[in-house]
Amino acid sequence: MSQNTAPLQGIKVIDFTSVQSGPSCTQMLAWFGADVIKIERPGVGDATRTELQFDPSLPSYYYLQLNSDKKSFELDAATPDGKAILTKMLEGADIFVENLHPGAMDKLGFSWEVVHKINPKIIYATIKGFPEGSPYADNKAYEPVAQAAAGAASTTGWYEGEYNIPTQSGAALGDSNTGMHLLIGILAAVIQREKTGEGCYVYQSMYNACLNLCRIKTRDQLTLDKIGYLTQYPQYPDGQFNGQVPRAGNIEGGGVLGWCYKCKNWKTDNNDYVYIVVERTASAFKTFCEVMGFQDWLTDPDFNTPDARDRNKPKVWERIQAWCIDKTKYEVNDLLKDHIPVAPVLSIKEIMDMPSNYANKSLVKINQGGKIGEFVTVGCPCTFSNFTPNYGPAPELGANTAEVLTELGYSEEDQERFKANGTTARIPKPEAKPATPAK
Ligand SMILES: CC(C)(COP(=O)(O)OP(=O)(O)OC[C@H]1O[C@@H](n2cnc3c(N)ncnc32)[C@H](O)[C@@H]1OP(=O)(O)O)[C@@H](O)C(=O)NCCC(=O)NCCS
Repeated sequence: MSQNTAPLQGIKVIDFTSVQSGPSCTQMLAWFGADVIKIERPGVGDATRTELQFDPSLPSYYYLQLNSDKKSFELDAATPDGKAILTKMLEGADIFVENLHPGAMDKLGFSWEVVHKINPKIIYATIKGFPEGSPYADNKAYEPVAQAAAGAASTTGWYEGEYNIPTQSGAALGDSNTGMHLLIGILAAVIQREKTGEGCYVYQSMYNACLNLCRIKTRDQLTLDKIGYLTQYPQYPDGQFNGQVPRAGNIEGGGVLGWCYKCKNWKTDNNDYVYIVVERTASAFKTFCEVMGFQDWLTDPDFNTPDARDRNKPKVWERIQAWCIDKTKYEVNDLLKDHIPVAPVLSIKEIMDMPSNYANKSLVKINQGGKIGEFVTVGCPCTFSNFTPNYGPAPELGANTAEVLTELGYSEEDQERFKANGTTARIPKPEAKPATPAK
């Protein structure tokens, strides 16, 4: 029999999360082999089940892509029976993850202090919009809230003209990125618990997860405070910085001169663009000039040092642009890839059509069965030499309710009672009586 190498086999997770941030974290725990039981409100479930559906009778791709390989347990944790059931679950679990709005879990009666008393070994992991003690700590948060407050929006987007407005990234810096940050904290806490024998409280704000990806912008602010300008930005040397890290357009985040260039079909294809980096070192610049046919720049003092190129960015961009405009992004990539850092701008459609993405599991196909059949999702972003995640289907709402209750020792009569009193099933609202006609 082959050895089960799933890193988290035997770890039990109670997943009290919804939407994207928390579920992205618990999905990774499930892919690493943990037994993840997702608690969903009876008859309703995670809000994403019915958000952006492709068919009103089926769960959305949003839900499917974030809840693969989990179990679904319908539970109203606010009823007396619900509280008793959750307490029992917590007694036997390793990790509890929640992302309710600030104060909601305390109100339900399951704060860190309470849960730690129920089971001192449990790791209690929380996502909120903002760090404890922040002036925004009580704010509810979704993706753009985090990007707006954590420096991402103020430094992203165009830097002049009418589109010089704070802009959010299409990448989920506030949502899935927060889930991945929490995952790091949880995994460290699991190792810590092996030494201390006790679980701890891991608090991850969306703000901190997003800010962590903006650290180079804090580098830029420090430099700006010292010298008043930033050589890598389009505003250098003649524009105004006004003491704040500006929006960056398409500059490369480090000290090298990168930009995004139109290619041959840009008028008909929104994504016929290519990103090209001009590196700083003399040897890399020589390679760049030779491959592009710009050898005259090697001896031209306006271009043959990094600072000269930074001072003359518009001319550098103009010449590279002229070189690219009669080639497609793929042709540019083929010509340059062995010599300098380059990549075509790829659309999501192109990415999802690339066979290599399936061969190396950047993308995976999950068989959901039924009317949905197979769907594509992003696979576990790291690979292991001795282990491949199980990419199982997402659960139907309440698919595992009876199984979980039976494992906890509840009899069939108990389970019927829980359904009848609204703990594990939705109690239909009584029909409104027709109004009595006025006499
Ligand atoms: C995402 C968010 C804005 C949604 O807020 P919301 O619409 O109020 O929804 P919540 O799921 O937090 O909670 C709504 C209520 O349902 C209750 N609830 C949710 N699941 C429950 C369950 N299984 N049993 C009983 N009650 C439940 C909560 O206790 C809460 O009750 P309250 O308002 O009386 O305190 C908020 O949860 C939030 O800011 N979370 C933290 C940051 C985050 O993760 N954001 C999502 C990024 S993808």
